[in-house]
Amino acid sequence: VHSHLEESIRPYIDLIDTLRSVGIHKDLALPTIAVIGDQSSGKSSVLEALSGIALPRGSGIVTRCPLELRLKKVAGGVNWKAVLSYRDKKTEFVDSSLVENYIEQAQNELAGKGVGICDELITLEVMSPDVCDLTLIDLPGIARVPVKGQPEDIEKQIKRLIIKYIEKQETINMVVVPCNIDIATTEALIMAQKVDPEGKRTVGILTKPDLIDRGTESKIMDIAQNKTIPLRKGYIMVKCRGQHQINEKISLEEAAQKERDFFQKHNFFRHLIHFESKSLFMLFIYLFFTHFCQKSLPQLNEQIKKQLWDLRNELKECDAGPPQDPKGAKQFLTETLIGFINQIKSISEGELIIEENL
Ligand code: GDP
Ligand code: NA
Ligand code: MG
Repeated sequence: VHSHLEESIRPYIDLIDTLRSVGIHKDLALPTIAVIGDQSSGKSSVLEALSGIALPRGSGIVTRCPLELRLKKVAGGVNWKAVLSYRDKKTEFVDSSLVENYIEQAQNELAGKGVGICDELITLEVMSPDVCDLTLIDLPGIARVPVKGQPEDIEKQIKRLIIKYIEKQETINMVVVPCNIDIATTEALIMAQKVDPEGKRTVGILTKPDLIDRGTESKIMDIAQNKTIPLRKGYIMVKCRGQHQINEKISLEEAAQKERDFFQKHNFFRHLIHFESKSLFMLFIYLFFTHFCQKSLPQLNEQIKKQLWDLRNELKECDAGPPQDPKGAKQFLTETLIGFINQIKSISEGELIIEENL
């Protein structure tokens, strides 16, 4: 099932990546998955478990700049490689244990050392035979009370930053909610519902199921089964590495095994759809992503058509007067755009067979 799934999705991912690579994302919003939630709710941990790439995480404000994680599957036999870019800097490296350091370094440069936040994007592109094609955005968490060294309006600043990403119709919002807090106070859910009232692109991720108080299990089950704050796409429960496991240097694979054991043995939670294996979760994300792309590609098509229209008008003006711009470049862009439109058309008209197969 998995490889068939990847094959079906490949054209979407390729198209999106091509659009990105020619810089069209500056004008057009492209499908992306963003994680949002309170500080220390487990956002980075979820992304880490999902991607297999160790990210900076821990208690307090760790993620201080938006991080775009672009995972690219490359043919087997090719080694792991990553490119970190921010501002006009680009660093290429082949040692995956350096990811955390590099991101921290970039954050310090962009947001200053300490507890400040910044809305400049850090991009980490990872090419590996072991990843699935996926683009994820890790965002700073919502902090209610400023800590020493943070501006008074830190909550506002963070929310403004988050909104910038989640309001885009092309973004899938994964709202991370820890099981050990009162879900009703989860600001991120409220924010997601505001930008996506119909819940078409919002999914809940329940974290820290191992930290709940005894006696609260049935309350958590209600949430997980979508009875408390219903989301159209529902919730998925995951158990990631706790701080203790991180300190003990438990590997991601070991953690995945422990997670499996945890769910299998749990009196209540073993009945849920959960993070039992990375591939199951991947499958879910893929389904969600594909479903979503199918809907948003026609819209993307409209956006491109409009751009093309504007560009053609501009071209006409160029014809009339002395050509200020290199005309050949414009013509090239026009042709490229037409190519894209045709590509999009053929993809959005083609039917996907994934759902039938599952
Ligand atoms: P973020 O601020 O939302 O990105 O949260 P992090 O991913 O940095 O996680 C915050 C803390 O919660 C870290 O110490 C993690 O180890 C811990 N944590 C995350 N998920 C779980 C979980 O499922 N169980 C336990 N016990 N701890 C977790
Ligand atoms: Na944190
Ligand atoms: Mg984080």
